[in-house]
Amino acid sequence: MEQYIIKGGNPLVGEVEIAGAKNAALAILAAAIMTDETVTIDNIPDVNDINVLLEAMSGIGARIQRLDRHSVKINGSNVHDFSIEYDYIKKIRASYYLLGALLGKYRRAEVALPGGCNIGSRPIDQHLKGFRALGAEVEIEHGKIVAEAEQLCGTHMYFDVVSVGATINVMMAASMAEGTTILENVAKEPHVVDVANFLNSMGANIRGAGTDVIKIKGVSRLHGTSYSIIPDQIEAGTFMFAAAATKGDITVMNVIPKHLEATAAKLLEIGCEIEEFDDAVRVVAKGRLKHTQVKTLPYPGFPTDMQPQMGVVLALCEGTSTITESIFENRFKYLDELARMGAVSKIEGNSATIEGVPRFSGARVSAPDLRAGAALCIAGLAAEGITIVDDIVYIQRGYERFEEKLRSLGAMIEKVSSDKEIQKFKLKVG
Ligand code: UD1
Repeated sequence: MEQYIIKGGNPLVGEVEIAGAKNAALAILAAAIMTDETVTIDNIPDVNDINVLLEAMSGIGARIQRLDRHSVKINGSNVHDFSIEYDYIKKIRASYYLLGALLGKYRRAEVALPGGCNIGSRPIDQHLKGFRALGAEVEIEHGKIVAEAEQLCGTHMYFDVVSVGATINVMMAASMAEGTTILENVAKEPHVVDVANFLNSMGANIRGAGTDVIKIKGVSRLHGTSYSIIPDQIEAGTFMFAAAATKGDITVMNVIPKHLEATAAKLLEIGCEIEEFDDAVRVVAKGRLKHTQVKTLPYPGFPTDMQPQMGVVLALCEGTSTITESIFENRFKYLDELARMGAVSKIEGNSATIEGVPRFSGARVSAPDLRAGAALCIAGLAAEGITIVDDIVYIQRGYERFEEKLRSLGAMIEKVSSDKEIQKFKLKVG
């Protein structure tokens, strides 16, 4: 089992290149099988989730050619199987984007029903509501969602909750339906816009992505394209919080500053200095930061995927902070781990009250999920002494070369898989 071992206490300083957005890439790769022509996709992050999805796609007949670490050519003309097994869904929920892609192109899809996950119960009723509204018959049979349609017809639909996944999945299917679809109360996240831009570059006719209403005029075929994925605002935000927690000075490079506004606003509020450039943002933290309130909301609100990283920083701020988690019900598990490092917090329902402490002390902790895992590494980097983070397989799902990037900023962090390696690290750092 691999772990991260960290010796904390160094301010992180320097520039870090941000990879392509994992969550945009997952949807865009799935959508690439909606044409028989070849699609080239660039700026894909080299993370485990992407590799699993590509494997699932290759399993149904898509030809995948890796051009290099960050680009791939996909040809979907040989797709002959419309069924995605539970093994894939279990590893990566977002394989369910193949539902919208297969249903749109082939009018048939069978995808294992994803269960809950570590951050909450995660229903997919809104995805299914959308497919049904487009005229598909959707049944749950033997643990699979089976969606089928003779014809998909444009529709007017209102989502009951703002959902990134449902917006993208239904938008994909509707892009190849007959007639016009209007989707209301949609998610406005940058990756929703990126998927719409990608589909449009394949010949789809989607307008309004990034607003509350998306209008789609269905087309009968999509064509090949070359496309580059947007930068990952969550990876960028994670490094911005690492600057705040370690009293450092980090510039995140290759980002779209507009996508980082909610994060930058909170960092400013607690006392960081923020400098914005065309495609970079610099965060400088000096001295003790101050408490605040934060509530996670759909974009452009504060992202739930940044909540644990913010929580770690608030646990070191002066005064009492509160966090309200309004998207996923089970996203405070990291606070119990953080308590082992000296953090003081109380969770009540979907709110956490955090009493800031002046310092953490290194301890052994477990990553409960992807973002919480990254947050605990940040805590370790800010702590006195040695921290060991277990279950880093979660972190590797979504962060490319995480420890290397941190090391380039001056962090003392290694990936280890034996006691011998742990001892070696301890000897090295003294
Ligand atoms: C995506 C992101 C995830 C992020 C989340 C919220 C990907 C691969 N994952 O997840 O990292 O944390 O957006 O920004 O892009 N809901 C329903 N019914 C549905 C669908 C969702 O009730 O059919 C609820 C969920 O339980 C949750 C809320 O809607 O409370 C938002 O979920 P959603 O936006 O769908 O998240 P994902 O797309 O799964």
